[in-house]
Amino acid sequence: MHVPVLLEEATDLLLGNGGRLYVDCTVGLGGHTRRILEKNPQAFVIGIDRDPYALELAKENLKDFEGRYSLYHANFADLDEVLRTEGLSEVDGFLFDLGVSMYQLKSPRGFSFQRDERLDMRMNPEESLTAYEVVNKYSEKELERIIREYGEEPYAKRIARAIVLARAKEPIETTGELVKIILSVIPYRRGRIHPATKVFQAIRMEVNKELQSLETALNKTLDFLRIGGRLVVISFHSLEDRLVKHFIKTHLKPLTKKPIRPTMEDVRRNPACRSAKLRAGERV
Ligand SMILES: C[S@@+](CC[C@H](N)C(=O)[O-])C[C@H]1O[C@@H](n2cnc3c(N)ncnc32)[C@H](O)[C@@H]1O
Repeated sequence: MHVPVLLEEATDLLLGNGGRLYVDCTVGLGGHTRRILEKNPQAFVIGIDRDPYALELAKENLKDFEGRYSLYHANFADLDEVLRTEGLSEVDGFLFDLGVSMYQLKSPRGFSFQRDERLDMRMNPEESLTAYEVVNKYSEKELERIIREYGEEPYAKRIARAIVLARAKEPIETTGELVKIILSVIPYRRGRIHPATKVFQAIRMEVNKELQSLETALNKTLDFLRIGGRLVVISFHSLEDRLVKHFIKTHLKPLTKKPIRPTMEDVRRNPACRSAKLRAGERV
């Protein structure tokens, strides 16, 4: 349901400091956590995810390691609360594997433009902001900004205008309706990426406040990383990568001069990993 991205690279870098206590801030289905627990039989992992359904699957996937992990349903922006609940003031490393899992893309929550579903896109169904609200209530200017910044879409203005004109007639209820509106202003050309790809990414990032959560969380890791503690981040978006690069350069000793990218073989096996970039740093 989800092939972990840069699995060996990320976990080897994290465990390279010989620690025992790691935080997987995006435990998802437990792929990276599983490898940490397998590779280092002394390790204990605190796993965080904001998606309660993913956590259920992680529990199942990690059942061989009972007693060596604890799972928390939380936003990683609140990692300080999680660690205090665990009674911890210091850890050996943090792992972030950002974005959505294949499991989430396939679950009926409107993440994918390839199916017609309600506009939702919440990773955590208990939160209130949905894609419906963003698409139907945000001003034209806000929509344009999100689509341009988060989607890096040059036709942001045109798309935002089309959304506002369409919703003036009747609310936009489903992903299928949104795709039609996008295609009415940017035709799909064979062999190119689908014009809805970037718009959906942008709306998802807004609904889940992804950049804001990442920035908050990165800053909080500094309160808990021991000297020699490591931070490993896999990102899928240039704004995330820029944030991570700057954070590591400012606060840590970089362990990756250039970001680590998936090999051509990785991409062939798992096309979803093509834009992944891994950066790591160590507290000195
Ligand atoms: C790419 S998946 C991680 C997959 C995982 N490494 C594995 O091997 O199964 C990203 C996960 O991060 C979670 N996530 C994204 N943003 C989050 C946040 N702010 N707080 C907590 N979890 C978050 C998503 O719900 C998703 O399950």
